[in-house]
Amino acid sequence: MAVIAKHCQNIEIEVVDINKERINSWNNKNIHELPIFEPGLSEIVKNVRGKNLKFSNDVEKAIKTADMIFISVNTPIKRKGIGAGETSDLRWVESCARQISKLSVGHTIVVEKSTLPVKTAKTIKDILDASSPSDLDYKRSFSVLSNPEFLAEGTAIMDLEQPDRVLIGGEDIEAMNQLKDIYLNWVPEHKIICTNLWSSELSKLSANAFLAQRISSINSISAICEVTGADINEVANAVGKDSRIGCKFLKAGPGFGGSCFKKDILNLVYLSKYYGLTEVAKFWESVVRINNWQQNRIYEEIVKRLFGNLVNKKIGILGFAFKENTNDTRESPAIEICSNLINEGAILSIHDYKVPQETISRDLYPLQKDNNKKICWEYHKDVYEAIKGCDAMVLLTEWENYKNLDWGRISLNIKRPFWIFDTRSIIKREQLNDLSLNLWQLGNGNNK
Ligand code: UGA
Repeated sequence: MAVIAKHCQNIEIEVVDINKERINSWNNKNIHELPIFEPGLSEIVKNVRGKNLKFSNDVEKAIKTADMIFISVNTPIKRKGIGAGETSDLRWVESCARQISKLSVGHTIVVEKSTLPVKTAKTIKDILDASSPSDLDYKRSFSVLSNPEFLAEGTAIMDLEQPDRVLIGGEDIEAMNQLKDIYLNWVPEHKIICTNLWSSELSKLSANAFLAQRISSINSISAICEVTGADINEVANAVGKDSRIGCKFLKAGPGFGGSCFKKDILNLVYLSKYYGLTEVAKFWESVVRINNWQQNRIYEEIVKRLFGNLVNKKIGILGFAFKENTNDTRESPAIEICSNLINEGAILSIHDYKVPQETISRDLYPLQKDNNKKICWEYHKDVYEAIKGCDAMVLLTEWENYKNLDWGRISLNIKRPFWIFDTRSIIKREQLNDLSLNLWQLGNGNNK
């Protein structure tokens, strides 16, 4: 919405949420303390906030006065009941639709911005249509559009300003054109694709599934590299040079995290099963299976190299976010890997450039509860402090600064034999020359 506000100064945008604390943080005078860290976002918010972009808790007023409403609520994986663990929990989408149907005035275009299972637009439409009251002296009507978001965290602003494509799905051409006109303020027309509703919803899930599939593919090859003497970076480079394959999204790592990939694939699996497409479901399920396996095998490598015993060993964890340039930890491989290490008896010393201690505390809380609240990790703002006195360190997020650590300094304050587990293959082996540090890199056939 900030980017739309920047490019469409004639449009009034109001972002509303029932969560007062969240809205207060978006209104925070200190522009560097917005609730999410995203490069370039605070500058844009600073320029448009209070002009044509407002943040408020007055949901009712916003619905009443809006010509177009973007539903952008959370759609996590359902935890209980039918489809638990696979399909999305749509309770917040449904409650938005109910509120809109009750409060809107005149004709309202309702845009699905959240990523949703295919056919959700039908649910939204049914709710909107069912509650148009006949006893009012004015008529309410709705057009439902699907406008999935393709931005990635960490590069969100660039992705929005120069998108590969904008997708608009719908039935009402007039409404679709109104939404298209907004994007035309900065996106060239040939990049705006119009489809039917279901193609739009399915394209979003498919795009994420394809991206995640590439990561599981390269991660599966990383394991073959380790046993055959090949090098995953060399293989990825050679494979990616084929213009039909392309070089993006071929970086092996500890497995994909983030709030979307796993959830969207599981939605696809659920949809396939629902329509009896068992083989299709199995195909996509295997992408998630490889992802879980990758996280697990990294943890097993660590235990194996530390003589099968982690009890009372101190392990430095470099990076907790699911990728660089974000403070988001949702589905971060760090959570699974750290939990397994703690279960083995290790004491973790965690560092991340943007993830605060409270977030790590929340993510590792279930484990701490199991351990009778025994503290099994500490947090450090300084990366060198985090590694001090450790038996090993595990690099989990590819923060740029981790590429240029002062290994000479690190080597003075560690226990030996010391192991470095580099799950993003970003450390240069030559930097460790003569320091007698052991290095295990993901996908490297030269690991000892
Ligand atoms: C992803 C998609 O890239 C976006 O297009 C989409 O809009 C978004 O989900 C969404 O549906 O909201 P995001 O999850 O923010 O974006 O981040 P990605 O850059 O896709 O990274 C996801 C995970 O894959 C990270 O854990 C990252 O480390 C991992 N990854 C990515 C790799 O392991 N290797 C790669 O080559 C690329």
